[in-house]
Amino acid sequence: MNHSTRVRNIPPYLFARLEEKISEARRKGMDIINLGIGDPDLPPPAILTESVKRHIDEPDTHFYSTSRGNLRVREDITQWFKRRFKVAIDPETEIAVTIGSKEGLANFSRAYVNPGDYVGVPNPGYPVYGNAAVILNEGRLKDIPLRKENGFKPNISDFEGCKLVFVNYPNNPTGAMADYDFYTELAEWIEEHPETVVVHDAAYSEMTFDEKPYPSFLQYTRNTIEFHSLSKVFNATGYRIGFAVGKKEYIDGLVKVKSQLDSGAPLFIQRAMVDCLKGYNGDIPSIEVLENRRIYAERKSIIESGLNKLGYKVHPTPATFYIWFETGGDEMEWAEKALSAGVAVTPGRGFGSMGEGFARISATVPDERLKEALGRLTKIN
Ligand SMILES: Cc1ncc(COP(=O)(O)O)c(C=O)c1O
Repeated sequence: MNHSTRVRNIPPYLFARLEEKISEARRKGMDIINLGIGDPDLPPPAILTESVKRHIDEPDTHFYSTSRGNLRVREDITQWFKRRFKVAIDPETEIAVTIGSKEGLANFSRAYVNPGDYVGVPNPGYPVYGNAAVILNEGRLKDIPLRKENGFKPNISDFEGCKLVFVNYPNNPTGAMADYDFYTELAEWIEEHPETVVVHDAAYSEMTFDEKPYPSFLQYTRNTIEFHSLSKVFNATGYRIGFAVGKKEYIDGLVKVKSQLDSGAPLFIQRAMVDCLKGYNGDIPSIEVLENRRIYAERKSIIESGLNKLGYKVHPTPATFYIWFETGGDEMEWAEKALSAGVAVTPGRGFGSMGEGFARISATVPDERLKEALGRLTKIN
């Protein structure tokens, strides 16, 4: 029996293919340094693990949760949002807890994309936009190029004609950040284009390394939905927890879909998320976040300067644990050579055609391994 056309249209997930190649090399006894996948190697902080253990014993946490998320948890997140971004959110209507932001992004798109609708997908971009939001909804992909000449930000006029558009800053895979002018222009565009839903994916909002805290797009417009995640900055990808904030109608759409597909994130994980967020002092992150930032920033600078020394054109940014650089030729061939030398990286075209000639490195291994990886890369130069 064939899978449905929708499912057959999904291209093989890049990371799965990469994992296969890595496993194959490891089976042959090779030591592979995996810089390919954005999964933090550091353990989650004690505040998170202790909190999960405590909440799991509470008498009400084994029940079905609700698709919108526990009200008390939503109230606590909105208080964090107020402290962190100075934006007031109605906990009843303008927020939903998600099972990580991937789930939220995919399910939200189902609420708005009809077959044949254009969906604006950043190129290069997080592959889930094109696969889950376009192919699984039988939508049509509208390429939104992110060019290096434009700081990997889109031309907003490219959003014309889309039913839904994804905007993601700090950005995966480029690490780019958007600025005041970009968000202001985008907010104005949204006012003039009520037919388009603009989704802001802020999964990396807490992973920036300069002085200024990264803004929320809700500081510029309330006419959007923004996705947040605990995954990256709390080293908690496996805990599957995040939340969406924004316009009531959008949150309602998301919750309507979720209520048919899941019963919400486990309550003990929701409560643990809140305990982590309570560690912030105003917009100053908790020590756990500051420590993670320090480590990732240091690792990034090791890789950026190492690649520079090897003669690669690096696009350094003070955000995310990704390094986006030009391989100087066909990046698939380069990635194959790197793998033969024992270093796995993600070839840029896995994020879209505009990624050709680029590769992404994730700073998700300790410093010594990074240095070892750079040493191995000198040999393929
Ligand atoms: C841009 C972006 N958005 C969303 C996600 C999903 O994160 P999670 O579902 O773990 O919150 C990722 C994960 O890599 C990502 O890079």
